[in-house]
Formats: sequence, structure tokens, C-alpha cells
Amino acid sequence: MDHQGEVDLLTRVLDNIEQETTDMTEPGISPVARYLDPVQYEREMSVLFRDYPLVVAFASQLSEPGSFVTHDLTGVPILVNRDREGLLNAYLNTCRHRGTKLVCEESGSARAFVCPYHGWTYGDDGRLDHISHEEGFPHVDRKASGLIRLPVRQRAGLIWVVPNPGSSLDIDAYLGPMADELEAFGLSDHVLFSPHRDRRTANWKLILDANLENYHVKIAHRDTIAFMFEDNVGAFDRFAPHSRLLFPKRSIRQLKGTDRASWKLREHANVIYFIFPNTIILVEPDHAMVASIFPDGIAGFKVQGGMLIPEEPANDKARSHWGKNYGIFWNALEEDFQMVERVQKGIAGGLVPHLHFARFEQCANWFHEEVGQAVKSAL
Ligand code: FES
Ligand SMILES: [Fe+2]
Repeated sequence: MDHQGEVDLLTRVLDNIEQETTDMTEPGISPVARYLDPVQYEREMSVLFRDYPLVVAFASQLSEPGSFVTHDLTGVPILVNRDREGLLNAYLNTCRHRGTKLVCEESGSARAFVCPYHGWTYGDDGRLDHISHEEGFPHVDRKASGLIRLPVRQRAGLIWVVPNPGSSLDIDAYLGPMADELEAFGLSDHVLFSPHRDRRTANWKLILDANLENYHVKIAHRDTIAFMFEDNVGAFDRFAPHSRLLFPKRSIRQLKGTDRASWKLREHANVIYFIFPNTIILVEPDHAMVASIFPDGIAGFKVQGGMLIPEEPANDKARSHWGKNYGIFWNALEEDFQMVERVQKGIAGGLVPHLHFARFEQCANWFHEEVGQAVKSAL
């Protein structure tokens, strides 16, 4: 985002504060079945988690030749590596002989991948280099039996994969204007600090609903982060299928009457990018938090996240600074996790006919519209 864009957003929010309002659109009625229907769940899995670009790793995990990470949260075993030529690759993490998961470590460094079952060996470029007792496989074309490739790209410090071998991936076209905005925050050069994983018992869309509005902050986060933020004031923009949310901090009021040339968006607001279908990127003053949500059964989700910081911490003081920020974020998210687990309990049985999205919970409403359209267009 250029500086004029930052000033425009800050001005919009200051106007909202002045007029004691927030950005609003139409309200929404939300059928409970969208969280409970197994048919809907299967469709979401087969469309959103097969055919869309998903964040599977952080670029700094794959900066060195030979480095690899594995990812299992989409239901498809994925292996991503940087080969000795420096190229980024993603493969199905599956041996072509009898289907063994090839690599089980979460991350590491390897010049070759040897299957633990019968020893078929793949190069770091995915080629099948060696079949033990090859005389037994006259029908196998070794050149055509390398690891199956998946589309992969690096953008904004993140690694994006479509877990479908037949698909293509144009990440700039997919992210649209968000690509440049994220790059402008310098995320490409950032490194991963403290990856985080968790599993919770609520439908995956409930935790995204919670992160797509700030109406709840004053109440649900009253003992932790609420004191920092304006109550229920924001700027919400749709870049379909994505959205951008601005949650102003109380410090924004200090900007009134000051020289706009000195205004800095990150100092006075949390900027949240929701990248459809499942990733939240929260831009803070000196770092960004990333959390991707993956369904794990209809009433469960897994979260994979981490903190992107400008450089490796040089000393204990830096480590403690980042550790403190890490704690604030995940403590607040823990409150959201507990709240949406409570929602899951509240809607169990499906007898509440529908729920409500306010005029200022539009981003959650938009998210469900996008899910509905994506699932429908794939039928
Ligand atoms: S399953 Fe991998 S070598 Fe047999
Ligand atoms: Fe929250």
C-alpha cells in the first residue's frame, strides 16, 4: 500500500470515530447448517482445499538448497523443497511404488529422498533415480515415475501450493491488489519466528468468523487486548474473494490535526488480510502474524501459523521482544478458540434455525458468500 492509501484508510477510520459509527453494509442471516451439514463439509474439502492456493509453509523455511518441509493438513500429503539448483518444488509426498508416505519429518535438509519400504530413491528434483531390483519392474518407465508435482509459488514470505496435480497457480492473479500490498510491508524478506500448531473442536469456518469482525473485541478480549483498540470501529474492504480489515488502536486519535505526511498505518491500526479460503495475515507495527485454518472433521480444525519478523533475532533482548508479541497474539487467539468451541456446543443439534451477522460483520458475511459460490460453481 502506498502512503496515500495509508492516509486514506486512517482518514476513513478517523471520520468513523468522529461520527461514532463504523463501515457498514447489509446485515446477513446465517443458516446453522453451514457449520453442521456433512454434505457441505465434503464439498468444501473437495473444492476449497483441493483447487485453491493454500499457505503450506514460510519462505524462510525453504531458503537453503536442500531444505524441505512437509504438510498434511489438506488431506493430501505434500512435500515442498528447494533443490540444489535453487528451484522451489512441491510434490505429492507419496512413493510411486506402493504409496508409502515418502518423508515423515516436518522439515529438514536432503539431497535425495529414499523410500523406507523398498528403497526407491528420488532426487531433490523429484526424479526417480533408483529402483532396487529393477528387473522386477519391466513395465515401469523410470523417467515417467518421478514424484508427482503440485503447483507451488513463493509470495509475501509465504509458500503457496494448490494440492491438485492437474491445476495451475498464478498467485499474483489470485491475490490481486493484495499481493502488492503485502509485498510493500516487506514480508518477502521476513523470517519465521516460532511456528505454532494447534487443534480445536469447532467447525473451521467459526474461527474465521471470529477473526473477520472486531465487534467481539471489547467483550471477548476484555482482560487481554481490548484496552488497546477502539470499540467496534473499523474499515472493511472486499477484494473478492479476499477481504481487508482495519482495526484501529486508541492511539489513532493522536493523529488528529497532525501532518498527514507523518502518518503510519501500522502504528495505529492492525491491518488484517483475509486470504480466501483459510489464511489470516495480521500486519502489526514491526512484524506480521500468519494463521492458516484447515478443517479436521466437520467439528474440528487445525491451525498452522507463525510470526514473520524482519530478521533473525540477534540476541536475547530481541528474542524476548518477539516472544512477548508472540504471546500476546496467541493468548488473544486462545480466547477466540475457546469462544468458537463454545459456539460449536451452542449450535450442536442444529435446532437453532439461523444466526445473524450485523451490518458491521460484513467480512464474515462475505466469506460465507464466497464459500457458497465456490462450492456451487464446482458442482
Ligand atoms: S513403497 Fe516405496 S519403495 Fe516400495
Ligand atoms: Fe478475537
